[in-house]
Amino acid sequence: MGNRIPDEIVDQVQKSADIVEVIGDYVQLKKQGRNYFGLCPFHGENTPSFSVSPDKQIFHCFGCGAGGNVFSFLRQMEGYSFTESVSHLADKYQIDFPDDITINTASRPDSSGEQKMAEAHELLKKFYHHLLMNTKEGQDALDYLLSRGFTKELIDEFEIGYALDSWDFMTKFLAKRGFKEELMEKAGLLIRREDGSGYFDRFRNRIIFPIHDHHGAVAAFSGRALGDQQPKYMNSPETPLFHKSKLLYNFHKARLQIRKQERAVLFEGFADVISAVSSGVKESIATMGTSLTEEHAKILRRNVEEIILCYDSDSAGYEATLKAVDLLMKKDCKVRVAIIPDGLDPDDYVKRYGGEKFKNDIINASVTVMAFKMQFFRKGKNLSDEGDRLAYIKSVLKEISALSGSLEQEVYLKQLAAEFSLSQESLAEQLAVFSKQNGPGQNNRETQTRRAHITTKARQKRLRPAHENAERLLLAHMLRDRGVIKKVLDRIGFEFNLDEHRALAAYLYALYEEGAELTPQNAMSKLQDDTISQLLSDILMLQINQELSEAELSDYVKKVLNHRKWSMIKEKEQERAEAERQKDFLTAASLAQEIITLNRSLK
Ligand code: CTP
Ligand code: MN
Repeated sequence: MGNRIPDEIVDQVQKSADIVEVIGDYVQLKKQGRNYFGLCPFHGENTPSFSVSPDKQIFHCFGCGAGGNVFSFLRQMEGYSFTESVSHLADKYQIDFPDDITINTASRPDSSGEQKMAEAHELLKKFYHHLLMNTKEGQDALDYLLSRGFTKELIDEFEIGYALDSWDFMTKFLAKRGFKEELMEKAGLLIRREDGSGYFDRFRNRIIFPIHDHHGAVAAFSGRALGDQQPKYMNSPETPLFHKSKLLYNFHKARLQIRKQERAVLFEGFADVISAVSSGVKESIATMGTSLTEEHAKILRRNVEEIILCYDSDSAGYEATLKAVDLLMKKDCKVRVAIIPDGLDPDDYVKRYGGEKFKNDIINASVTVMAFKMQFFRKGKNLSDEGDRLAYIKSVLKEISALSGSLEQEVYLKQLAAEFSLSQESLAEQLAVFSKQNGPGQNNRETQTRRAHITTKARQKRLRPAHENAERLLLAHMLRDRGVIKKVLDRIGFEFNLDEHRALAAYLYALYEEGAELTPQNAMSKLQDDTISQLLSDILMLQINQELSEAELSDYVKKVLNHRKWSMIKEKEQERAEAERQKDFLTAASLAQEIITLNRSLK
């Protein structure tokens, strides 16, 4: 058992892995010039300042400074150790990875027993599925599912199962396999008896839907009653593995599809997701019995811009849609709504009209948020009735007045005017009244977004003192041309002013002495310190000339060394003042001499 991955393998993995593809699994990237841009997964932002360079095989965020290569990306994103990220990529790119390497997962100590909890979930998932498919006890549950239109293939695909009608079957099953009861209670699988005399099974006589986390590990279960018993669904509680406010059902499978289709379809229930997937809408996901949270919205926006909401067509569904719309728009998503005809939920619709019709007439026929609201206001109204008509126009005008863009407002005004043969002017007048009532501050979203954008830009262009810029440019040239490393070593050595610049320079000197080839990939791959790899990615992104002239080089060197001298002069002046105060004139005089010499050397 060795712990070091041979350099050849690291190199081979590095050469085969495409950073754009790897990061593309987590962040939606758009090409802009030579680089790709997206929303940084390491800090919340609405404007993309996260860039990935395919040429240099590095990423860098101008907003928060995160940066590095494929390995450091996985380290920061997944909490992988170095060996883990290499083996993960070797797997992805089908590169032979030696069996005798110990994959070091020590970076994530398992103090809370999460590993064991995950194991138990995996085991139970398989067992529940077996009970449903192959046993007499599971027959009723299977019949129920089949009668609801689930096919066996679908049941296999979603690994649906059945929990026996027993108080302690799973409690015993887990105990026999060495899982500690307290831990299994923490995992949400067992419940502690109130009298403290032991534990019993949480899921009994229910159809079991495994809930996977975003990496595809089973994190929880949801159990549906076979008939009308209450509660209809029983879910795992919040546990170290299961966080409802962050988890989206089916996300692990849908992610790639979401990328491909450039849209995600969001449902309220996971039964809806299963039906939608069986209809060919594979980019489907759902929240888990909670309304959409800001964290869900963040995760979604990082992956895709367009979200189609497909909620139940009752008034609760309407309210939930509006809330989700608000939340998603705040994160700069483009939202559309797929409307299900009265009284049905998406799953009912598929069962009644078939998947083809669902995909074409509902999902692909999604409408804008405004059109969705208009359709809702129209419900139950008779528009040939004067009163109903006025009420309808009024509600629509109110909505239009809340829109942020004047162009958008005009489009809907025109539409409304045409629909009821009204003059656009009179509608606009009425609109002005509503706009005042809404008051300022209503349309602020746009300004806020713009402001956020400006701050990022400002941070990007933060004015750095001359010596700092000089050091950065020198480092950039050292990375481009090993000849420059030698020159800088001779003239500056370790006299860089900023600690992290000095550390990076030292690292480059070492690579130079080793005679290693100096590509950005190479420089990056040996670095395991996140601060230095962030700095490196930042420096690699600097735009520099291909050549460094002697004049330019001496200018930078002078700025670096002069700054050091300046700081020394300032220090010595303080010491001299202090010496004079202490009436130590001898020391003061010798300090004055040193200051003069330093000042002279500044030229
Ligand atoms: N839900 C829940 N607990 C309940 C009811 C619902 O957690 N007692 C959650 C579940 O995640 C469910 C979602 O809310 O997927 C939507 O609920 P509902 O529309 O009632 O369920 P359906 O998907 O219609 O389920 P079914 O078709 O089996 O009746
Ligand atoms: Mn349903």
